[in-house]
Amino acid sequence: MRDNSFLEFRLDYLPRPALALTRIKQFTEYHPHVWTIATCRRVANGGKFRGSGTAQLELLTKAAASGCQMIDLELQSAVRLKVAQIERLRSRAALILSFHDFRGTKKLEETLEKMVALPADFYKIVTTATTLHDNVEMMKFLEKNSDRHSLIGLCMGEQGIISRVLGVRAGSAFTFAAVSEDEKTAPGQVTAHELRGTYRIEQVDPATRVYAVAGDPVAHSLSPAIMNAALRRETVNGVYLALHAKTLKDLLLCVREIPIHGVSVTMPYKETIVSHLDNTDAHTTKIGACNTVVRAQDGKLYGFNTDAAGIVRPLQQRITLEGAKILVLGAGGAARAAVYGLKERGAEVYILNRTLAPAQKLARSAHARLVKRPDLKKLSFDVIINATSVGMGNGKESPLNENEIKARYVFDMVYDPPETRFMKMAKAAGIEVIPGIEMFVQQAARQFEIWTGKPAPIDEMLLVVNRAMEERARNTISEGRRKTG
Ligand code: ATR
Repeated sequence: MRDNSFLEFRLDYLPRPALALTRIKQFTEYHPHVWTIATCRRVANGGKFRGSGTAQLELLTKAAASGCQMIDLELQSAVRLKVAQIERLRSRAALILSFHDFRGTKKLEETLEKMVALPADFYKIVTTATTLHDNVEMMKFLEKNSDRHSLIGLCMGEQGIISRVLGVRAGSAFTFAAVSEDEKTAPGQVTAHELRGTYRIEQVDPATRVYAVAGDPVAHSLSPAIMNAALRRETVNGVYLALHAKTLKDLLLCVREIPIHGVSVTMPYKETIVSHLDNTDAHTTKIGACNTVVRAQDGKLYGFNTDAAGIVRPLQQRITLEGAKILVLGAGGAARAAVYGLKERGAEVYILNRTLAPAQKLARSAHARLVKRPDLKKLSFDVIINATSVGMGNGKESPLNENEIKARYVFDMVYDPPETRFMKMAKAAGIEVIPGIEMFVQQAARQFEIWTGKPAPIDEMLLVVNRAMEERARNTISEGRRKTG
């Protein structure tokens, strides 16, 4: 509250809103510098107020008398009033005439036309983003109309994040965020703290470059935390979002139209995006997967794969890769990045996979050796890398048994949980462990370098990720406590 210059009171969330008026009066008297908005949305219009239109008007009028500088009244209520009644309300506080679409983003111009027939100080149109491109529609609408009217526009829903962060630069007078995690009043709403702290919304201007991680799912990605921290530290005028892309087409439209300068591509688009790129680096071509897209000034899309750097860099900090004997577990996208990256550095690479065929194919094309599981007990390595998904999530499984882990280092590409069973087993055997977080940070660092041309603030990035993981673990514990009562 201390740093929010705007505060919205949702009177409709209170069982007896009239009882709050005295406290609102005290608040506004005590905090004259805070702009307060009173809203008492009716159930039919998506709010929680069950009273009549007359009762609503009365409450809002009293809220204005209690010091609220702004009153939000929905279009559906306003059309039932006489212009004189609206003007009377407006004489006491600035009026935000609002319209909410809880299903989609459509007919924005038509809605505005209906709204501007009524007098108001701000016209607020809030829709629901069902695609990422809905945000583009909203922003184009704002760009086109904000010269003529004072508009507030944004999209709700998980996919509405773009409009919440970029809407103000498109012409929205302001945006809305929850005071805290527990007090979110609209789906997809971010907290004011996140908008200010993580996304630095007050610094977003027309020159701000937009970056994003895109995938499905993407909600738990740590990339926004780490990348926004890096952008801030290196004073890059950029903002990094998490985009839940349900289709690749939707994502690519946004990349072109917003435009998005750089994308961290994640599951399930790493492979399918390749054919949409104008050019790719050698890693992407060999691995057949792209995790980094750059949109050039001329709109061309270039693909890179920084996963190989994510594996090679943490190892290079510890050993000489030339001639090192390294076992890679897995034969999927992550394994391919590891195998090619390590071969390029002169390592002697061995591959073991649950299914033989993809392992054979990878070994053949990368000139690596194949290992059969029964032979493992007889072999020892400088490094064993887990590039399978085993251990992800609950962390109870390990890709190898105790007697199969003979190495100087174990590197687990799984980073959630931060300590897998595989890592615990290796530690217990006195083997040095490289956590997957290092790979995550290094592949992100390489992306940062490609996009900005600046060296990545790796220590800061590592710190941020570790902090975010700790916070997540704490939340999981309290969530568990809550569930078990
Ligand atoms: P990624 O892009 O993360 O590498 P992927 O391409 O789907 O994901 O590859 C997953 C890898 O984990 C594969 O090597 C897979 O082995 P198969 O080729 O036999 O499917 C491996 N993997 C997944 N689940 C596994 C399990 N339960 N046991 C062993 N290997 C597993």
